[in-house]
Amino acid sequence: MSTITTVAVLGAGQMGAGIAHAVALGGYSVRLYDVAPARLPLAQGEIAASLSRHVGRNLVTQAEADAALARIAVTTVMADAVSDADLVIEAALEDEAVKKALYAEVAPHLGPQTLLASNTSSISITRLASASDRPDRFIGLHFMKPAPVMRLVEIVRGIATSAETHAAAVDFAESLGKTTTDAEDFPAFIVNRILVPMMNEAIFALYEGVGNVASIDKALRLGANHPMGPLELADFMGLDVVLAIMNVLYDGLADSKYRPCPLLVKYVEAGWLGRKSGRGFYDYSGETPAPTR
Ligand SMILES: NC(=O)c1ccc[n+]([C@@H]2O[C@H](COP(=O)([O-])OP(=O)(O)OC[C@H]3O[C@@H](n4cnc5c(N)ncnc54)[C@H](O)[C@@H]3O)[C@@H](O)[C@H]2O)c1
Repeated sequence: MSTITTVAVLGAGQMGAGIAHAVALGGYSVRLYDVAPARLPLAQGEIAASLSRHVGRNLVTQAEADAALARIAVTTVMADAVSDADLVIEAALEDEAVKKALYAEVAPHLGPQTLLASNTSSISITRLASASDRPDRFIGLHFMKPAPVMRLVEIVRGIATSAETHAAAVDFAESLGKTTTDAEDFPAFIVNRILVPMMNEAIFALYEGVGNVASIDKALRLGANHPMGPLELADFMGLDVVLAIMNVLYDGLADSKYRPCPLLVKYVEAGWLGRKSGRGFYDYSGETPAPTR
């Protein structure tokens, strides 16, 4: 297996930008691709701002931040992004059809040894791998948000993932200073199988009037020592992502305990997606987030 020096990241949203940041700081050359041209300058701005914050907190030096930024090239041309990549990390929308179409599109441009990873939060790695041209070199590399800060990378093997691919993925994640945990390929893996139904339950508690946004988040922050309340965390993840994960759990496990709360569905239908759209369970237009219910 060849060593990894160049990494392509497909999708420059919240996660793609964060992964590009973390990978560039790890010393790799990064090619950041998005289908939406307007996303790329925004992602570059977010990465620069995030690196500056890390310099301010003495997590990296200015020289390391400058070098990391210089290692990230952005493009809307798929071939330019992936043709010299040793590892491709897909971080596009949490939509199985979108991801599968992307693997078909990328296949002709990949080198024979290139590893293909998905950052999916919940979708079956075996199913995604089967839509690629390389199921043995396909793996789930699940970074948490924010990717530059969170220590864990959840590693998910599909049924066809080779032992060499798994070892390379673990080595790669560790080279970024991350710790890995292995999850079997069941819907939403470990972290989101447990975390996201808790957020959905918090939304049910809000929907049924057990508490309001502030009281529910305060209860879990102070009563369970969670660093963020569940509604604050759902807004941070993106309510469309939270809903997509609940749907994967509901469809994949066929158990009514995973039904998405109707209030979550309504918020997503309204375009209230949380922090990234300016409104979710909190309104982000002012100085500090204001609870909306
Ligand atoms: N938000 C989280 O907390 C979180 C955490 C871990 C993993 N994830 C996973 O990461 C992935 C991305 O989530 P996100 O929160 O960054 O979403 P996002 O909506 O912020 O970003 C998705 C990006 O994908 C781009 N995109 C759409 N179709 C594409 C295509 N065909 N080719 C390339 N780019 C395309 C969009 O333009 C957008 O920039 C999802 O699979 C999600 O489940 C999300």
